[in-house]
Amino acid sequence: MKIHTRAVHAGDRKKPSPAIPVTTPVYMASSFFYETAEELDRVFAREQEGYCYARYGNPTSAGLEELVASLENGRGALACASGMAALHTALLAALTDRAKSVLAATSLYGATFNLLLQVLEPLGVSCQFVDACDLEAVAEAVSRRRPGCLLVETISNPLLRVAPLDRLAELARGAGAALVVDNTFATPLLVRPLELGAHLVVHSLTKFLAGHGDVLGGVVVSDDTHYETLRALGRTAGPVLGPFESYLTMRGIKTFPLRMERQCANARELAAWLRRHPRIERVYYPDEAAHPDAASVARLLPGLYGAIVSFEVRDAGRGEILALLDRLKLIVPATSLGDVHTMILYPVMSSHREISPRQRERMGIRDNLLRISAGIEAVEDIQADLEQALAGV
Ligand SMILES: Cc1ncc(COP(=O)(O)O)c(C=O)c1O
Repeated sequence: MKIHTRAVHAGDRKKPSPAIPVTTPVYMASSFFYETAEELDRVFAREQEGYCYARYGNPTSAGLEELVASLENGRGALACASGMAALHTALLAALTDRAKSVLAATSLYGATFNLLLQVLEPLGVSCQFVDACDLEAVAEAVSRRRPGCLLVETISNPLLRVAPLDRLAELARGAGAALVVDNTFATPLLVRPLELGAHLVVHSLTKFLAGHGDVLGGVVVSDDTHYETLRALGRTAGPVLGPFESYLTMRGIKTFPLRMERQCANARELAAWLRRHPRIERVYYPDEAAHPDAASVARLLPGLYGAIVSFEVRDAGRGEILALLDRLKLIVPATSLGDVHTMILYPVMSSHREISPRQRERMGIRDNLLRISAGIEAVEDIQADLEQALAGV
């Protein structure tokens, strides 16, 4: 054969040897074939398990999907290219056979608001909002609006309200609505919403599950009834995650429970320390008896309260907060959370920037609010960095 032909084919498509790799390899193939065309035909027809085209399924992503479905105790999962792609896909799966209306929590990640109001509502999906921690208000809105879907975050961003998922699942099921839960902040170590009656669970894999600041990804985990719809959406709309990101996420998840335990312990210590700090006006962390959702916390959280702490800096405005961020030497002042390194975020500047100041005020997100995601470092070092940064305010 000529060099041009050998360059394309030589050495490629070797059958795996009998040796079994200790981790799932990165399958960078966009399509797959079999010894016989008949077999490929059966795989396309879904009469035989297998892979044919990467948008329909990829062995690396399938490994990740099985892993996350196991952690969340679901029927199966779809790995998506981002947390937002996962939320979009979960909402489409929830609404396929239901009224095209969403009743969503008032405290949500900023981009989730925009997904509802700028993407779904213009397509004819009606979106209403309710305080998801006020069960009477939710019951009233469900019976008046008859929504196709309820959308909530287990622990809300950034004010850390804890939704009564078990009660919300009863209300949703009673009204024939789907309960979709963004479980990014809680992670399956703290709460598994499908066990409490939710229908679909979403994660931004970018955060605690991947955990190292090197992946953008999302996942939807489904109960039995929505699984086929979810997979069909994956095949047709194609929001799927690439194999390399799936590999990195699987690698990250191996240490996720250990990291999360440490991050929760660090966050709790930071919250206690910040509550005593004279320059801090208010701390948001759900470990206090006085927390507005203490009853849900006692029922749903396992003595771990999450790795996120929010706090308001006394007498600080936008200028003082930006200067404080510039003084940090260890804590990473970047937009994300859940990584091994401690991160700090200014919601007004990033996660909740697109929301109008009036709406932010109604949500209780003030100009002096900061949100910390505790990493796995020694907590004294995190405190020392915050101390020197706060000293200049
Ligand atoms: C609670 C929550 N849900 C969803 C998302 C979106 O995830 P991604 O950035 O991976 O699209 C984020 C991102 O910060 C988030 O905090």
